[in-house]
Amino acid sequence: MNHDDILFGILGNAFHCPVLGEFEFLENVLITINTDGEIDSLLKPDEYAVSDIMEVLERENRLVRLKEKQYLIPGLIDLHCHAPQWPQMGKGLDLPLYNWLANYTFPLEAKYQDLEFAKRVYDDLVQSTLSSGTTSAVYFSSIHLEPTRVLADTCLEKGQRAFVGKVCMDDVEQCPDYYRQSVEKSLYETEAFHQYVSTMSGNHGLISSVVTPRFIPSCTEGLLKELGQFATNNNCYVQTHCSESDWAREYSQQKYGETDISVYEKTGLLGRKTILAHSIFLTEQDVIKIQDYGASIAHCPLSNMYFANAAMETRELLNRGLHCGLGSDVAASVTPSMLRSCFDAVTHSRVREEGTSTKLAAGERGEAKTRISFLEAFWMATTGGGKALDKNIGVFRRGFSFDAVLVDANIQDCDLKIWQALDSASDILEKIISTTNRQNIIKVWVQGREVVCKQ
Ligand code: GUN
Ligand code: FE
Repeated sequence: MNHDDILFGILGNAFHCPVLGEFEFLENVLITINTDGEIDSLLKPDEYAVSDIMEVLERENRLVRLKEKQYLIPGLIDLHCHAPQWPQMGKGLDLPLYNWLANYTFPLEAKYQDLEFAKRVYDDLVQSTLSSGTTSAVYFSSIHLEPTRVLADTCLEKGQRAFVGKVCMDDVEQCPDYYRQSVEKSLYETEAFHQYVSTMSGNHGLISSVVTPRFIPSCTEGLLKELGQFATNNNCYVQTHCSESDWAREYSQQKYGETDISVYEKTGLLGRKTILAHSIFLTEQDVIKIQDYGASIAHCPLSNMYFANAAMETRELLNRGLHCGLGSDVAASVTPSMLRSCFDAVTHSRVREEGTSTKLAAGERGEAKTRISFLEAFWMATTGGGKALDKNIGVFRRGFSFDAVLVDANIQDCDLKIWQALDSASDILEKIISTTNRQNIIKVWVQGREVVCKQ
């Protein structure tokens, strides 16, 4: 056979988590990728031994052979990231949300009308997220049309799968004069951006537009309704913040007498392609609605610990089978690394756990069985994110896009150390999740294209 439809093959060890809470170690697997950037086959040693495929790929220089202590994992999926806040990372996180937004975020986001500044920041951000293994990112941009196009162009040029939204905010009381738009302008620019993305040359589905009302306090009901109608008519992705702090939650109650979810439902913003960041304070009715609509939650563990002063009921939401992935919520985090988000999600779930002292009465401190495992967190950052976005990504499976990260545990001066005599496959995956630094990520592919190559 000539295998002409195979772009290249990778031979080595790979991990993925197709099922929540479980992992598969694909030992010495040969993954072949077709010219559309999809996985064409996953062959076990006894399968490729009886085929000529290895010989052909090797002869034609189309085979990547992984070394010892190099591992392939699925590309990581960040369901919630604020692109213009990249220069803000590491500032003011000890403030409450309201002050953080007013003192740092809005003044910074307002600067993006300067397209040169936008290009400089977005080049650096997209390079950094890719180098951290983020192959798909769901981005809030700023309120401006042109810089949002720059962000989409940058993702396309660098090869990152991206879901990009121009932020909409119009409320006169909640948004500063220098950083808000009228309903008409917000809607016009949302439509213009949607149109731009659908006609971007060379896009081929890598970039999607997202209708993006910032959150309930920053939007009037009129704006929410217009955006809801646009999203429904055009079957668009929607992203927003949902019940993320006491202040934001109480604002909805005071203004509408309802929860965020009810407001999003009534304004047509809740649907299968809606991504709700945070969603910390949900009522039982809210959870039922999210599940009925098939909407998704972007769990942002570190940001929640800082801004919600509360813990997400991740365990319960996963048990109920809601679509749930992870978000970095840059700049409400101190790294774009989704592996760090996995680690934070586990930490977040552990602080909820019931105290075990015999001096405590049942339920006196914490709750029973709230922990999530590293495998569950990793599932959220890969398989769960793929389900949330309704895309064939996050798992190594025939027909799925080849979005992958090559982790190298041979790098000097790094925390990821594998001791082969001591570490089982499950230990190795846990160590990858917990201790991988950016230096350990030596190659990244999106849709079969090599987008990071350090060796
Ligand atoms: N709520 C409204 N806007 C924002 C934002 O930019 N970041 C976070 N974390 N929460 C928000
Ligand atoms: Fe956010």
